[in-house]
Amino acid sequence: MSNWQRREFIKFMGKSGLSLSLLPLLNACESLGFSKTPPITAIAPSAEDLLILSPGLKWENVISWGTRINEKNERFGFNCDYIAFIPINENESILWVNHESPNPIFVSNYIRGGKRTKEQVIEEQKSVGGSLIKIKNERNVWQVVSNDPINRRIDGRKKIPFANGERIAGQNYTIGTIANCAGGITPWGNILSCEENYHDYYGENQKTKRSFTKISAKNSMGWDQFFNYPPEHYGWCVEVNPQTGYTIKHTSLGRYAHECATVTEARDGRIVVYSGDDKNDECIYKLISYDQNSIKKGDLYVADIEKGHWISLQLKDQPQLKKYFKNQLEVLTHTRFAAHEVGASALDRPEDIEICPTTGHVYVSLTNNKPRGNFHGKILKIIEKDNDPASLEFKAETFLNGGELTGFSSPDNLVFDKRGNLWMTNDISGKEMNKPPYASFRNNGLFYIPLTGAHAGRSFQVASAPNDAELTGPCFSADFKTLFLSVQHPGETSKSIQNLTSHWPEGGDHIPRPTVVAISGPALDNLMK
Ligand code: FEO
Ligand code: CA
Ligand code: CA
Ligand code: CA
Repeated sequence: MSNWQRREFIKFMGKSGLSLSLLPLLNACESLGFSKTPPITAIAPSAEDLLILSPGLKWENVISWGTRINEKNERFGFNCDYIAFIPINENESILWVNHESPNPIFVSNYIRGGKRTKEQVIEEQKSVGGSLIKIKNERNVWQVVSNDPINRRIDGRKKIPFANGERIAGQNYTIGTIANCAGGITPWGNILSCEENYHDYYGENQKTKRSFTKISAKNSMGWDQFFNYPPEHYGWCVEVNPQTGYTIKHTSLGRYAHECATVTEARDGRIVVYSGDDKNDECIYKLISYDQNSIKKGDLYVADIEKGHWISLQLKDQPQLKKYFKNQLEVLTHTRFAAHEVGASALDRPEDIEICPTTGHVYVSLTNNKPRGNFHGKILKIIEKDNDPASLEFKAETFLNGGELTGFSSPDNLVFDKRGNLWMTNDISGKEMNKPPYASFRNNGLFYIPLTGAHAGRSFQVASAPNDAELTGPCFSADFKTLFLSVQHPGETSKSIQNLTSHWPEGGDHIPRPTVVAISGPALDNLMK
């Protein structure tokens, strides 16, 4: 009996007025095999500073922050997030890993409130973006191939051209990619990496009905103190060729706090990319490309969840936007403003989006919206008309609500396995973890949610993260024998190096290190049979 079933049974006992002393009967029923055997043994929520896994699963450290990856002395970046697995052959693969944000305490020895130097900011710029690394499977252990020519960093200091030669804020290139959260893989094998909380670094020129409001980043990362880069250069998606490292920044997907870029193909071969804007009361978007082998150009749409249709953000379809924008590039640069002007649905922080490989249904994490009293979020299901990703009509329904009953709060990253079952990581913030209303969920975790069979729609917690950490970027190897996972921001709430809240993964007195792990074992093999 899963934890979920046990909670349901206990709840039923409470409501029915029957005595909880009947619990031994429940145990007896289980031992006699009256309940269906769970597909995997769930673990109890934990507040231990460990990566705890279900029985039958084990983890290996693939690479931690600070590991040297090539002869140029480039190092694996901080706060690993989205992972893409690009197979080379049966035993070798390229991993792309996003690096979402730096924690100055660890990266640049900067303590908030102190005096800051440009050199410290440069260290932080070098720690974000993404890493390309070659990995090799030797005796069932994935290891980094040190100094392989594939190994390189695309960081916050790299010169990156805009697609189509477009000029934004007077320039056809940008310095660096930042705030890289989730992403996707194109059918031609390139990686998409999304710039999420970009405003933390160089601020924002926020569009309002009458003008723009300049917002400084001084209360967050504050890089604008030393680098006068236009905020409009960030908040896009970048496309990276994993073999060459060639990178461009796309404007077609719009500019906002891009969580992800989930790619599929329409029936006619055009490319469809779904993405969410992870902010309270923001929206879900999709791009339908003009070409079958490029997303440089296309039509961008935003979801009206209540009416079940995708609203065009093309200036030619929306004459009311002409009051505010001279051309389509301006609309794309201030997508959020345009979306609300055309009546898009304001949602509860859209995070990751995945498409079920067996049904074609689109699953969206709406993590939470605390000002609106939504603390635990939900997973939304979108069914495109005729299951065609290029359709402009859809039905939306709640798949699962977060909360005590389902045993998870604040769903975030999603990935489907080859059997069409869902894996989800959750994101309770470090400051709120283990406190009401999140206390019972303890540390963040990884959850397995079957979509079919006797346990359909039930969540099984299969991993518990170390202190303050969030598990991000779940990604299967091509043979589904390994689940790669980023352990992001362990010890995030540490006040200083002398006062650490986590020592994971090395333990003892060590500083915490964001790390990519490889999870495998008979319990995973059993689920993939
Ligand atoms: Fe980077 Fe919305 O998570
Ligand atoms: Ca996320
Ligand atoms: Ca995902
Ligand atoms: Ca999140």
